[in-house]
Amino acid sequence: MSRIAFLNGEFLPVDQAKVSIFDRAFLFGDGIYEVTAVLDRRLLDVTGHLARLRRSLAEMRIEFAMSDDELVDIHLELGRRNNLEEGLIYLQITRGAAERDFPFPADIEPTLVMFTQAKKFGVSELVKTGASVVTTPDIRWQRRDIKSTALLAQVMAKQVAAEAGCLEAWMVEDGFVTEGSSSSAFIITRDREIIARPINNQILDGITRKSVLKLAEEQDLKVVDRRFTVDEAYNAEEAFMTSASSLVMPIVKIDDRAIGDGKPGPLSLRLREQYMELAKTAEPRIK
Ligand code: PDD
Repeated sequence: MSRIAFLNGEFLPVDQAKVSIFDRAFLFGDGIYEVTAVLDRRLLDVTGHLARLRRSLAEMRIEFAMSDDELVDIHLELGRRNNLEEGLIYLQITRGAAERDFPFPADIEPTLVMFTQAKKFGVSELVKTGASVVTTPDIRWQRRDIKSTALLAQVMAKQVAAEAGCLEAWMVEDGFVTEGSSSSAFIITRDREIIARPINNQILDGITRKSVLKLAEEQDLKVVDRRFTVDEAYNAEEAFMTSASSLVMPIVKIDDRAIGDGKPGPLSLRLREQYMELAKTAEPRIK
């Protein structure tokens, strides 16, 4: 059975889902996206992802008529048609297709593309050993709060990580870690404080981050909103990352320096377990 995608109102086998060569995401990276995790057929944090989608659309001034309820229904139907137990649902909205010219074209119809990626990530071997990250300069633009499909800097950063045998690259600006190439970055100090970079236009407002930090605050963990340096990260007690595609992943090595005792930290592991526990009650669920 072929994988089914959704393109502009139609469910189609992926090899029949075709987009114009004039689509502005293809020509200019003029589009935005979201990635929602599916675990046990449940959509995780989909309300948060759609809220961020609306914000990205507004910031990019892309007019998009479909309601959140309709988008959720398409997620569920796409999940059902692909029998998606566990994995990711990718959604992209572009400004649309028009003759190549830089300003926004008048009367343009946005392109909506969605597809699924089956992936076993709930039970991860990597969680047992912990992940390694490498630092690299953050060479991105100034509107990192928009979840734009213009991801060249992140592609370059992730390639640096891949060539170093690491899962993720932590991007660094003025000596401070901004975030991972496709994840939010955190350290935990000896005083059990979780250090999380404040949300502004310099990083993406992570949806998994929000849920995980809420879980932390409901316990005895203090969350401190401030930037942290690479040196602080090297000397942290624990480090971890969050994203729809990794959920909560403990980090045990940064640039070949062992973090803490070089094993996944207990607080990071506990946050992962609690997030997975919360996921078991997430709604809605694919039929
Ligand atoms: N990336 N920061 C960046 C730069 C990201 O690209 C992502 C997500 C995050 C984490 O956000 P969330 O918790 O909402 O997934 C932070 C997705 C997974 C991707 O690009 O595939």
